[in-house]
Amino acid sequence: MFDAELLKKDFPALNQIVNDEPLVYLDNAATTQKPLSVLTRIKNYYENDNANVHRGVHTLAERATADYEAAREKVRDFINARTTKEVLFTRGTTTSLNWVSKFAEQILKPDDEILISIMEHHSNFVPWQQVAAKTGATLKIVGLKEGQLDLQDLQEKLSVKTKIVALTHVSNVLGCINPIRDIAQIVHEMGAYLVVDGAQSTPHMKIDVQELDADFFAFSGHKMMGPTGIGVLYGKEKLLNEMNPVEFGGEMIDFVYEDYSTWTELPWKFEAGTPNIAGAIGLGEAIDYINRLGIDAIEQHEHDLMAYLMPQLKAIEGLKIYGPADLQNRAGVLSFNLAGLHPHDVATALDMEGVAVRAGHHCAQPLIRLLDTSAEATVRASFYAYSTIADCDKLVDALKKTKEFFTI
Ligand SMILES: Cc1ncc(COP(=O)(O)O)c(C=O)c1O
Repeated sequence: MFDAELLKKDFPALNQIVNDEPLVYLDNAATTQKPLSVLTRIKNYYENDNANVHRGVHTLAERATADYEAAREKVRDFINARTTKEVLFTRGTTTSLNWVSKFAEQILKPDDEILISIMEHHSNFVPWQQVAAKTGATLKIVGLKEGQLDLQDLQEKLSVKTKIVALTHVSNVLGCINPIRDIAQIVHEMGAYLVVDGAQSTPHMKIDVQELDADFFAFSGHKMMGPTGIGVLYGKEKLLNEMNPVEFGGEMIDFVYEDYSTWTELPWKFEAGTPNIAGAIGLGEAIDYINRLGIDAIEQHEHDLMAYLMPQLKAIEGLKIYGPADLQNRAGVLSFNLAGLHPHDVATALDMEGVAVRAGHHCAQPLIRLLDTSAEATVRASFYAYSTIADCDKLVDALKKTKEFFTI
């Protein structure tokens, strides 16, 4: 039995009073809280095993290297990559996507096209603008239909000229889940590569990169109970072999001569310099924690929360929810606005009730403009494994209070 209330005890940050109220943390799309096991693991690493990886022969260096590489194996297993050669540690989704954009610069020609969608986070938007500017390729943008990805528009914009399609798996604003498996098929039929931003899906649903058939898949540790500063770029081995390293220096070389150098094998070819060792080990521990809960159980729990919450939000007069109406296509991210109120005022009022939500453009300005919000912003509540029915009730109560407060 999945008991979210009980889970909260594992997360020290969740057990605090904020503005005289018990904290209700609903900003999980921005970052998630960390369980004690992750915090302890990082502390233990620094207290006992701290050493640089892959270099030393002393015992601490061997322990640190073994733990760092064990974390990579945990990631491999978690996303079902074929081999750890396909699992690169990065700083996070943003870095991962920027790395893929360098591969795109390597292969794109002026007549080629890149296809993204209007719902992309800036980190899957701006790098592609840059690639287009540098290579002369054209950037095309798929629109929305009924609050989610317009698949017909995608099919129409996809052509033999398309070389890269870069899409988010779950929108950090709309909460919609894009059908990546089906999209991969049509993208590959057209001979293009599919890049997937998995920042908002990996923490919340089973990711099987082989089944999804994405060519590249990016995600961040801090959005899945792990530390900040660590993330992953999965890439198909063949493509990673073709891709040039993005950074150069120690750890990623094989031989260095005065006039040229050779690169070491995957995945280390991409990991120049001292990596975020504690971050990777912490991410590995977060994966252990998620595995103990069961990723399917987490997904079901968040779905149940949405099914409980949505009708109550819809019943609040003047509250407009963005994204698909169909709960089936939704993850635990909810954007909304209260008529006549600025989203920042709403978020501040909710904070006074101990409810932490996000207000703003959520790093998706092109999407927010399209949504036609009066303030070019929305309020966003986002949920995770430790979110409870009581949290939903508190959100609804606090929203009703906010409405009353501002209308008097
Ligand atoms: C959909 C999506 N993509 C990318 C990112 C960027 O992630 P990070 O800041 O961890 O690199 C985020 C973060 O909010 C996101 O929600």
